[in-house]
Amino acid sequence: MKLYFILLVCVYAVNCDMYLHNPRGSNNRLDEAGRERNNANRMFDSQNNNRGGYNVGSLYYYQGSKLSIEWTNQHSCQNRNAHCEVVLQYMCGDLVRDGVTTTTIPDNPAQCENYDCNTDTRYGMNEDYDYYLNCKLRYRNKGLFTADQNLNGNNRQTAINTRQNPGGTRRGYECPEERDYYPYWHPTPWKDIAILTNDATMCPYYQSESQNVKSKFACDIPREVIYAQANQNFKIPNNKEDCEALELPAVAGVNATNGVWKEFPAHGIPAPECRETELSRDNQLGNGIGGYPLTHNWTIPEDFVEDKCVLRTRYNISTGDYEGWNDTDASNNAQGNNQAAQLDLSEKYGLDDQDAAADRGYEFENNPNTQIFPNADFTLQLAINTAQLGRTFQDRSHTFAVVERPADLKDAVIHNINVRGKRGNIVQVYPGVEYDFVPNTLEMAAGEHVHFQWTGSNTNPRNNDGQGLAGTDRSNVVLQRAQIYPEGSGIAYQPGEKFGHWGRSYPGDVRNMSFLDLPLEDLQNLAVLTNKQFRGELSELDDAGTYYDLGPRKVTTTGSYHYMCTRNNNFSNRSQKGRIICLDHSVADVSVGWNGGSINIGRKAAINIEPDTFAQLQKLRIEEWETAVAEARIAELGRSINVGDGYASNYIRLLPETKLTQGDKTFTVQMKVEQPGTKNVGVYRTNNDFATWTRLDADINDGLATFEAQGGGVYVARTEPQVGVIVGVCIGLIALVAIIIGGILYFKKNPDKLESLRGGARNAGRSVQNKV
Ligand SMILES: *[C@@H]1O[C@H](CO)[C@@H](O)[C@H](O)[C@H]1NC(C)=O
Ligand SMILES: *[C@@H]1O[C@H](CO)[C@@H](O)[C@H](O)[C@H]1NC(C)=O
Ligand SMILES: *[C@@H]1O[C@H](CO)[C@@H](O)[C@H](O)[C@H]1NC(C)=O
Ligand SMILES: *[C@@H]1O[C@H](CO)[C@@H](O)[C@H](O)[C@H]1NC(C)=O
Repeated sequence: MKLYFILLVCVYAVNCDMYLHNPRGSNNRLDEAGRERNNANRMFDSQNNNRGGYNVGSLYYYQGSKLSIEWTNQHSCQNRNAHCEVVLQYMCGDLVRDGVTTTTIPDNPAQCENYDCNTDTRYGMNEDYDYYLNCKLRYRNKGLFTADQNLNGNNRQTAINTRQNPGGTRRGYECPEERDYYPYWHPTPWKDIAILTNDATMCPYYQSESQNVKSKFACDIPREVIYAQANQNFKIPNNKEDCEALELPAVAGVNATNGVWKEFPAHGIPAPECRETELSRDNQLGNGIGGYPLTHNWTIPEDFVEDKCVLRTRYNISTGDYEGWNDTDASNNAQGNNQAAQLDLSEKYGLDDQDAAADRGYEFENNPNTQIFPNADFTLQLAINTAQLGRTFQDRSHTFAVVERPADLKDAVIHNINVRGKRGNIVQVYPGVEYDFVPNTLEMAAGEHVHFQWTGSNTNPRNNDGQGLAGTDRSNVVLQRAQIYPEGSGIAYQPGEKFGHWGRSYPGDVRNMSFLDLPLEDLQNLAVLTNKQFRGELSELDDAGTYYDLGPRKVTTTGSYHYMCTRNNNFSNRSQKGRIICLDHSVADVSVGWNGGSINIGRKAAINIEPDTFAQLQKLRIEEWETAVAEARIAELGRSINVGDGYASNYIRLLPETKLTQGDKTFTVQMKVEQPGTKNVGVYRTNNDFATWTRLDADINDGLATFEAQGGGVYVARTEPQVGVIVGVCIGLIALVAIIIGGILYFKKNPDKLESLRGGARNAGRSVQNKV
């Protein structure tokens, strides 16, 4: 095992923290009234500040709907000051619950109702007791780097003892070793959504090791034995050989005599997405680039219906001082090798030997005194805690449900719109956030659905600033007043009218403005929450409940809608305003980096990007335009499409328009085309000015056009008279040298071809429909 230590140039603060804001992270809080949470050990080990978290957060989402996961992390990602991984996961289960007490669930069945803590619903629980007991009794992985933390002695030998948690402190039924390390080597109930990392070349490793796709092994011991031995000196081996050799103590009713090295199947879901994280900076719990929140857009799986789930975000940071990944190799199992004392830093720093290095303070220990100037008589003390050089933070949501779509929404695209934040001014809520709609700006296509839903608490600190009844969270949605001065739209191709205007503090008059085509009844419900509340004092929504749900609503009129919350939009100190831009074309914003990925566009086109095609994260935007919509745009620009004689697909527009790939690498675009028997089909690319059209070298087969591209542009398939083939091929050869490819589809006219496209996209690589 090799450990590399570099001069410690950066020093870590005690709290580096990660907070989940949508869905609301609990940070171990449960509907409590204080600014500080009552019990930091209630459910999990966050290592976060006591003031973080939200009291309440349970919502439901439709399967296949789109949910923006938003968080803040304090110590930067995608920044050279720290290695960083963000791991997003979820778990579900009938017994998963928030509980009704802030007391930690006991570690002793005698303290639970019916001697069964798993079913004692007073206590919040994510992982269950059996899982915890297995962790508590299982030998820890002795190949892990432990620095100078004390992990000796018989009571520090199991998976609850780690470098970050040497004393084995318990938080809920979380397993500390699993908590600190990812991917974990034993089975866990956690399913992976995404891994966002500084080093995307690790992605193939994460994706293949994820329990989503890979079975895990553990030493299986009958439950009765584990319960009977919970407080004895019994230990469960962590490898096959020792497991099979283990003779079980006699326990009534158990026939097994030895441990069984058992395979626990993979979760059987697609590998998680994996890409570079977006940039965030040190010492700031805030937005990322461009002022946008740190986000992952999760498309909740389609075939998924669960009543009780929790979302988990993990934030793993380590300094550049050591090669963390080489230190977690379980094959380095000889105990002791991973102790700090064994690490010889002398070579690294050009010192004679280990003793000489130690004399100068170049040792991996707490607060070393380094003698930087060899002949000077002073040393400088470094603020190092070896439990924290390489550290994991975490937050978890309150429970949520995923429900089946009603029959009439089977194929609908559903966007969740929620409210984040809690009552108070920016200082009082920190490290939580003030109220905001999530997503603050939603771009959607006409015909898709929005699902307004939010929740809050009645027990925020009573002196926190806010309108209405002290301590309470309430929100509503009303259209803002119309604009009274002209304004350029600033957004290319933003169609339709503007409803409501930026920055207005008064609501609009519903008689002369539409809001998302909603009927008057819905508008009233959104304003005074009356589909959930019968009468009462609602001028500041005080008598309404904390939870609100309008249900999914279809939006058909294009335009940009500006809305606000009347109660919380106290201009002097707070704003709660949101925006929905309803477009006449479908749009997907997807981030793809070194690891590549497959993107399906409305099931009508697919882009497959192999690993190592992009050098870094690219924010792609993919739009699909109907031909009539595109023709209108082209005419507006005074252009025309002067190639081919008819359409064989819709228009696909991929942004940015520049070359995206490294060197001469390409990615593959597939789009659905309709090919009349008597005609050829040619695929053309143009820029956003529609000035010139270039014929691409595309393979047209079985209703699919497949071609290679290097960047964005506008793509369309055109029918051509047979004679055009020769000319087309020549142009195509020239065009091949040029850039990209665009895809198109005419799935509506040919819906049966849709399956073949989807099949094609699947074959092309991981189906990352989640990304769209
Ligand atoms: C954090 O990074 C270290 C390497 O520095 C790795 O060993 C560990 O598994 C990671 N943990 C998580 C939760 O990502
Ligand atoms: C506005 O919020 C700040 C904290 O950001 C607080 O100090 C100030 O008192 C608030 N203003 C009013 C009028 O309450
Ligand atoms: C707006 O909020 C501040 C506290 O943040 C409060 O002092 C003020 O009274 C509020 N304004 C109104 C009109 O309620
Ligand atoms: C998530 O979607 C929003 C628009 O809906 C987009 O602006 C943002 O870039 C997306 N985030 C990522 C990480 O792709």
